[in-house]
Amino acid sequence: MDNKGSSQKAGSLLLLLLLVSNLLLCKSVASLPICPSGAVNCQVSLRDLFDRAVILSHYIHNLSSEMFNEFDKRYAQGRGFITKAINSCHTSSLSTPEDKEQAQQVHHEVLLSMILGVLRSWNDPLYHLVTEVRGMQEAPESILSRAIEIEEQNKRLLEGMEKIVGQVHPGVKENEVYSVWSGLPSLQMADEDTRLFAFYNLLHCLRRDSHKIDSYLKLLKCRIIYDSNC
Ligand SMILES: *[C@@H]1O[C@H](CO)[C@@H](O)[C@H](O)[C@H]1NC(C)=O
Repeated sequence: MDNKGSSQKAGSLLLLLLLVSNLLLCKSVASLPICPSGAVNCQVSLRDLFDRAVILSHYIHNLSSEMFNEFDKRYAQGRGFITKAINSCHTSSLSTPEDKEQAQQVHHEVLLSMILGVLRSWNDPLYHLVTEVRGMQEAPESILSRAIEIEEQNKRLLEGMEKIVGQVHPGVKENEVYSVWSGLPSLQMADEDTRLFAFYNLLHCLRRDSHKIDSYLKLLKCRIIYDSNC
């Protein structure tokens, strides 16, 4: 990519970041003076919480797709990884709906707790992904920067989702279900092919799960905020 293209891209990424962080700091909700700057516990409407969560989940899915594509282009060419990477994600045990039709059948309380479960299940692998990519020879910046950003934004989305659950089902003691990830040794294998496949699979799963979360959230926003009229 030429310099102009990448600086434009960096520019638009920065803009998006500013937008997201402003939204999260409750600053850009100008018409609603509900959150004085510096407020720790700001009461945000459910609609605003959903708007932010959907922007974030879309952003995370976009970054995950780009990170996967970048990895695929750089390391996976000709290795036949795609044929091996089938349904072996650490979050598979959470049994989340496969598509929109299936998700439609799931009660929103259950869907919300699935989202929390998937987000929590990614905390640990995302942390290790960042450290392992950082340790790679000639750590590819295009992958590292996205991994760092996704780790950060995943935590923010989790916080946002906890606020949403707190408003939709106040008082409900939620069970903190998540899937434990045990893939660190495979990211550290000495054998290059095995190691690269482990990265490939993890990024593939991340792209898949971020897509699921994004679509569940859009569906929930429609159901809960617009009473399914969208
Ligand atoms: C991510 O978002 C950017 C900016 O909107 C867009 O140009 C790019 O095509 C998106 N990437 C993917 C993989 O969807």
